[in-house]
Amino acid sequence: MEAASAKHGVYILLFSLVTLSRLSHLAASSDLQIVDAERRIDVISHIVRVYLTLKVENTGKSSASEVLLAFSPEQAKHISILQAAVVVGKKRKKSYLSLKVNPTDLPDSPNGTKYYTAYLLNPLKTGESVTIEVMYALTHSLQPFPVEISQSEPQLVYYHDSALILSHYYIKRQKTMIRTPSSKVESFTRVEPADRKGAELKYGPYEDRSPYSYSPVIIHFENNNPFAVVEELVREVEISHWGNLQITEHYKLAHGGARHKGVFSRVEYQGRPSGSGASSFKHLLAKLPPRVHSVYYRDNIGNISSSHLRSDFKKSELEIEPRYPLFGGWKATFTIGYGLPLQDFLFESDDGRRYLNFSFGCPITETVVDSLTVKVVLPEGSKNPSALLSFHAEQNLETSYSYLDVVGRPVVVLKKKNVVPDHNIPFQVYYEFHPLFMLAEPLMLTSVFFLLFVTSLAYLHMDISIRKS
Ligand SMILES: *[C@@H]1O[C@H](CO)[C@@H](O)[C@H](O)[C@H]1NC(C)=O
Ligand SMILES: *[C@@H]1O[C@H](CO)[C@@H](O)[C@H](O)[C@H]1NC(C)=O
Ligand SMILES: *[C@@H]1O[C@H](CO)[C@@H](O)[C@H](O)[C@H]1NC(C)=O
Repeated sequence: MEAASAKHGVYILLFSLVTLSRLSHLAASSDLQIVDAERRIDVISHIVRVYLTLKVENTGKSSASEVLLAFSPEQAKHISILQAAVVVGKKRKKSYLSLKVNPTDLPDSPNGTKYYTAYLLNPLKTGESVTIEVMYALTHSLQPFPVEISQSEPQLVYYHDSALILSHYYIKRQKTMIRTPSSKVESFTRVEPADRKGAELKYGPYEDRSPYSYSPVIIHFENNNPFAVVEELVREVEISHWGNLQITEHYKLAHGGARHKGVFSRVEYQGRPSGSGASSFKHLLAKLPPRVHSVYYRDNIGNISSSHLRSDFKKSELEIEPRYPLFGGWKATFTIGYGLPLQDFLFESDDGRRYLNFSFGCPITETVVDSLTVKVVLPEGSKNPSALLSFHAEQNLETSYSYLDVVGRPVVVLKKKNVVPDHNIPFQVYYEFHPLFMLAEPLMLTSVFFLLFVTSLAYLHMDISIRKS
């Protein structure tokens, strides 16, 4: 009896602890309010970029250390990157300090709302306020309508969002601006006050909106910018301690816009390049590091000669032209390769390890990569490799064998889905390496020759000895 009631007591205690912690979480969150919110949505390319400025105030009794950012489940699925920073200083002396952000699940969130938590650098005390800047990119969020177009038609797309910023907190005052590629806007949902001037739509200002206020809008507009989607990209980065960094990139490229309808007329296409196939693309621009050399561009047929390389001491630009222009739904598979001086990318850290410092994402401008694999092939004999990235990516270790390899080369494999140009930030691969290993291959070659030499000597010797007898 006594044991049972003690157990019961423990349960009650546990239960109240759980309830208490949940209540305190809820209380803490509703103690924040947004005094002023401004949102800029950029739908100029096929990657939607949203810039949010939130002035957050703590109206509660205790200090707060986190701010929740809310997204509809539909939008959350398409978020590729999300960054937050806090603004310090005023006017001219303004600077930004980035904040740690994490996707967060809350139980019983209204209508399946998804969250990211931004962790403040210093606790926000009662009565204080802080300005947070948030940037996020959405992919595959412009929906072509009509879904099929012929060569002579422009491409129109839908963008869905809410005129009101979805928020876990009360918002006192807010407005939203949407920038379209041109003033060719077919229609947009009006939520008064709403206005359009040329290529800019304005929603708001709206005052005093309760948490989770939502007001769906649809914008239908012309967007002929290249919808360049790399369905799969594999980048191989091979380190050779003899001074070279060799990059090989395998692309499966597709035009992710409205599907092409009817036949393709090259005569019409070449005759009226501006009006015909407006949403198709012929060229792509890859931004490569300076001092690039031995550039090639080929597909399964062979080398494609139509590429131009411009290079200066700061950057190199490679303009590539697939064999045919790409229309909606069309695909092209190709490989780009180039070499780089190793000393620009390989360094020694303070603890004596070596590290590669290289850019992560796809070098082709304004491209969405559905599935990216980066393979860093380390020299034979490298030990304990580890990768360092500022965002989440799947990490694995493999071994590859090539010509003359004995123990094989460690390969650090990084995988990430839904990658945008904003992911083109440096990452590092650290590893240990004993310089003696550099002699392994030459030593092997020498010993092979030596063996050959010895064998031939032995053979000659044998030959002679046979003759003697
Ligand atoms: C949930 O969605 C329904 C239907 O879309 C809407 O009427 C309701 O206001 C939403 N509730 C919240 C809390 O957002
Ligand atoms: C393709 O280009 C590469 C690099 O310029 C060259 O080494 C190779 O021989 C070329 N292959 C063909 C088939 O032309
Ligand atoms: C990596 O390279 C970038 C410039 O490309 C530089 O700003 C950064 O400090 C480097 N990181 C390390 C750890 O060396």
